[in-house]
Amino acid sequence: MPRPDLLGRLAVQTAERAQAQLHRRLRTITKTDGPWLESDGRRLLAFCNNDYLGLAQDPRLVAALKQAADADGVGSGSAHLICGHRREHAMLEEALAEWTGRERALLFSTGYMANLGVMQALLQRGELCVQDKLNHACLLDGAQLAGATLKRYPHAEVDAAIRQLQRNAEGCALLATDGVFSMDGDIAPLRELSSLCANEGATLMVDDAHGLGVLGESGAGSVSESGLHERDVPVLMATLGKALGCSGAFVAGSAALIDGLTQFARTYVYTTALPPALAAAALRAVAIARDESWRRDKLGQLIRRFRRGAAELGLPLMPSRTAIQPLLLGDAQRALDAARALEAQGLLVVAIRPPTVPQGQARLRVTLSATHEETHVDRLLEALASLRLMDAPV
Ligand SMILES: Cc1ncc(COP(=O)(O)O)c(C=O)c1O
Repeated sequence: MPRPDLLGRLAVQTAERAQAQLHRRLRTITKTDGPWLESDGRRLLAFCNNDYLGLAQDPRLVAALKQAADADGVGSGSAHLICGHRREHAMLEEALAEWTGRERALLFSTGYMANLGVMQALLQRGELCVQDKLNHACLLDGAQLAGATLKRYPHAEVDAAIRQLQRNAEGCALLATDGVFSMDGDIAPLRELSSLCANEGATLMVDDAHGLGVLGESGAGSVSESGLHERDVPVLMATLGKALGCSGAFVAGSAALIDGLTQFARTYVYTTALPPALAAAALRAVAIARDESWRRDKLGQLIRRFRRGAAELGLPLMPSRTAIQPLLLGDAQRALDAARALEAQGLLVVAIRPPTVPQGQARLRVTLSATHEETHVDRLLEALASLRLMDAPV
C-alpha cells in the first residue's frame, strides 16, 4: 500500500473547509491611520483590532523604537540565555512586574509561546489541567502539548470546575482561564476560581491578554480589578500586542516561578529574544498605559455608547463590558454576509466562525479602541441598523 500523500490530504481538508463556507482569507493592509485601514485601495473604518488604547501608532513608542534601533540595531542576535538579553528587556521586565504587583516578570516572544512554555514547565505527563471551554487556543494547546490530562468545564461554570478538581483530587493541578475571553469579551469569575483553587490546592493561571491596559486601576488588568494578588493568582500571563500596541508577551509571578520558567520553559530557552527596540517601545507603552487613564475613560464611554445604541436597535449583544463587543448571529454564512455588507459601507468588522467559536455561534466581533470617536460608533450603529440583523433568529 502506498503511503497517503500528506499534502494531498491537506488540500482535501482545505477544500472541505471552503465548501463549508469556513475558509479564511488573508487581507493585506497597505496603510493604517488610527482606526482607519487601507486595503485593496479602499479606506475602511476598522472595528477589529486589539489596539484598545490606541498606542500602536503613538509617536512616543515609535521614537523609543527608533532610538533603540539606532543605538543597537534590530535583532537581539540570540536567545536570552546566550547573549540576547539586553538592558531594554531587563527594564521592561521590571516595569511589568511592578505594574502587575508581582515579584518578577519574564518576556516571551509571543503570547502563544508564553502559554506553551508555562504549561510545559509546570505540568508533567498525565497531570490535571482544568480549563474554561472558551479559553484561547494556545492555553488548550499548551496543556495538550505538555501531555497533561485536559478537563474543560462549560464557560464560566465554577461548579463544574469544582467537580472536575474534586473528581481528580490526587496529584498536582493547574486551573487556567482567560481573564477576558477573547471572542466573547466577558470576564472570568476570578474571585470564585481563586477560592476554588485555594480550597483544592490547585494553582491558578490567568491569561490577561485582553484585560491588561484596559481593566483595573492604572490598567493593571482583570486580576487587579478583582482585588486579587500574587498569592491568589500565582501565574499571570499577558501580551504586549494588544492594549500595549507592540508585540510579545510576559509571565509575571514569584521569583521562584520566574527562575523555574527560565530553566524549563522550552519556548523561552530555545528561541531568539524579542528585538530590544520593541522592548524599548513596550516600556514606553507601559508608562503611557499606566498614566494616561483618559484612554481607558474614553474607551469606556465608547463601549457604553455602542451598547446603548445596539440595545436600542435590538442587536444580539453579548454580556461584555470590555472593548470586545461581539454580536452573536449564529449561522456562519449570516455572519459572513453581515461582514461583507458592512465592508460595502466602508466598515471592517470581522466575522468569527467555527472552529474559532463553537458551531452555531458565529458572530461579528466588534472591538473598540481609544482611537475611535463617538461619530465612528454612530456610523457603525447606523450601518448595523441597515442590515436588519434583529429580524432573523440567532
Ligand atoms: C487570550 C489570548 N491569549 C493569548 C493570545 C496569543 O498572544 P500572541 O498574539 O501574542 O501570540 C491571544 C491572541 O492573540 C489571546 O487572545
